[in-house]
Amino acid sequence: MTQDMGVFKGGVAVITGAGSGIGEGLARLAARQGMRVVLADVAMERAESVAEEIRSAGAEALAVHTDVSEPEALDRLAAVTHETFGDVTLLVNNAGIETLGFCWELPAAVWEKTLNINIHGAIHGVRAFAPRMLEAGKRAWIANTTSIGGLGMMPIQTSYVLSKHAILSFSECLYLEMQVKKAPIQVSAILPGPVATRIFEDSKTGEDPVNAHHREIMRNMLKADGISGYEAAERILPQLAEGKFWVSTHPEITAEFAANRAQHLSSQADPTLPPEVLAGLGVG
Ligand SMILES: NC(=O)c1ccc[n+]([C@@H]2O[C@H](COP(=O)([O-])OP(=O)(O)OC[C@H]3O[C@@H](n4cnc5c(N)ncnc54)[C@H](O)[C@@H]3O)[C@@H](O)[C@H]2O)c1
Repeated sequence: MTQDMGVFKGGVAVITGAGSGIGEGLARLAARQGMRVVLADVAMERAESVAEEIRSAGAEALAVHTDVSEPEALDRLAAVTHETFGDVTLLVNNAGIETLGFCWELPAAVWEKTLNINIHGAIHGVRAFAPRMLEAGKRAWIANTTSIGGLGMMPIQTSYVLSKHAILSFSECLYLEMQVKKAPIQVSAILPGPVATRIFEDSKTGEDPVNAHHREIMRNMLKADGISGYEAAERILPQLAEGKFWVSTHPEITAEFAANRAQHLSSQADPTLPPEVLAGLGVG
């Protein structure tokens, strides 16, 4: 076990979207650090199969069917976790989906689904878990998965990008609320760079062919340049243990996006993208 992550040993981790990708990697790595792990996902078959593998390796794991877009499902998850394993040490609000399409084109139900999973999933995760964590008064962690996209802008991914900006803002304010309460709860924002997961396999696209083209570009980029979900977890978990707010899988990309964002805001420039990205979108 990496010494850095010793603070998690014997604790309880709850990870949403743990049936695949980054969440799966975090669940496997948390179990290897000696944590008991709750894997929450809508894809129960995948979550149960990961939980089974974790149990076969000698750790404790429980898969719980949870649709994070439903606030009551997160209440049930918190209750089941507490009954089964007791106080929560690490909550990672990680479940998220990609949706591609011009924003006027996406059906209302697709907008609702995207925002309910990506934004309300994390909000209600905190609402459901934080009271017991505060009451326990123990050192604990809440991490919300946003994205380097939470520092940027991207047409066609408008619904996703705005949800990631929202999660970054939510995490910043939540961090300060824990300070106000003098709570021993570390809040972190996880900003992954490219990770080769199924996120674009499962994504929905609007009708316009530009959307499908953009999805292909993103899918191929993750396949070619993405690290694995487990590698991402190996980069994320030590930074959480260290108590960092800004948690990156690719610190250099995060720094570049943050610098661009700061520059864009301080100069109050019109929204823009690098020419090669615009060309990929068929602009210019
Ligand atoms: N892959 C990347 O390059 C990347 C980059 C930046 C941010 N992220 C973020 O990382 C997080 C994890 O994504 P990933 O890339 O591992 O994707 P993934 O698709 O491989 O895994 C996401 C998991 O969430 C689950 N899920 C979907 N809807 C759900 C719901 N309503 N309730 C519960 N679970 C649900 C899926 O079944 C899946 O198992 C997301 O928040 C994503 O936005 C990913």
